[in-house]
Amino acid sequence: KLPKHVTIKEVGPRDGLQNEIEMIQTKDKIEWIENLSKTGLSYIEVTSFVHPKWIPQLADAVDVLKGLKREESVTYAALVPNMRGLERALEANIDEVSVFMSASESHNKNNINKSIEETYPVLEEVVQAAKKEGKQVRGYLSTVIGCPYEGKIPVEQVVRITDRLLEMGIEEISLGDTIGVGVPTEVEALLSALLTRFNSNLFAMHFHDTRGTALANILQSLEMGLTKFDSSLGGLGGCPYAKGASGNVATEDLLYMLQGMGINTNIDMDALLNAAFFIEEKLGKQLNSKQMNIARK
Ligand code: HMG
Ligand code: MG
Repeated sequence: KLPKHVTIKEVGPRDGLQNEIEMIQTKDKIEWIENLSKTGLSYIEVTSFVHPKWIPQLADAVDVLKGLKREESVTYAALVPNMRGLERALEANIDEVSVFMSASESHNKNNINKSIEETYPVLEEVVQAAKKEGKQVRGYLSTVIGCPYEGKIPVEQVVRITDRLLEMGIEEISLGDTIGVGVPTEVEALLSALLTRFNSNLFAMHFHDTRGTALANILQSLEMGLTKFDSSLGGLGGCPYAKGASGNVATEDLLYMLQGMGINTNIDMDALLNAAFFIEEKLGKQLNSKQMNIARK
């Protein structure tokens, strides 16, 4: 019943770094992403083309992408909030564009300064323009289980917004438990509702591990046929506009679980850990994934 192969989508250089105060030099980001490109990962979200005032850490997005030696086998993606972001992403020759919005009205407003209804045309314009340029388009839907301002989010709201996003021509939707409040029964309720209407291939799961439930939620998703998961090296990350949000599930901890279950990912654990220790040193603070802590001893 479990899948034989899972795709891990590394979001550390974007979701991880966007929440870090300590500025990482562009050349170090490039070296880190080049290391990540040689671990067997097939997808890396490398940066974000949001307003640099909102996320100063990623203001060097164009330079990071232009400086990168790319691997044929890797898709390099980035967040794009609007047409200004898309222009910058195209200048940097991005492979895949990720638009994003929230299932909760107040998180959407705090994160991208618009109501949900106002957001659709902005995303739609980006999706059409990106596809015209031959780019793949992914869409994030945040706060699909809980919102820091509104609490629990009704499943029907997620289904409704998903429908709109897919209608726009978005090829994959990453469902975000942005503040890591979800538990497996809630994941089951959400996915049951979505999978009666939409194919499971259309979804990736994006769990933050704020309360330690990410791996349990991933297991629940695997059992329901999901095969794509976002994670962040060293468990880096969070959303600066969602109070209390902590890092994504750590890539190496997810890899440990999948390997132990006999699920193939093509990713090399030692190479991954080397990349984790590289960025830990640049950040100047200890990262706390289980696998890093074991490797340290
Ligand atoms: P706004 O202020 O409403 O933008 O921000 P605006 O359209 O009114 O434009 C204002 C000015 O900003 C203009 O300049 C634009 O050109 C400029 P002016 O004419 O005044 O000189 N501008 C830009 N400049 C560079 N790049 C751009 C850009 N856009 C406008 N892309 C905006 C709206 C969306 C831009 C802003 O709210 C923003 O950047 N928000 C991003 C917040 C963010 O990055 N959050 C974290 C990522 S989401 C996340 O982490 C969740 C996720 O991981 C999934 C999960 O966990 O659930 C994905
Ligand atoms: Mg996130």
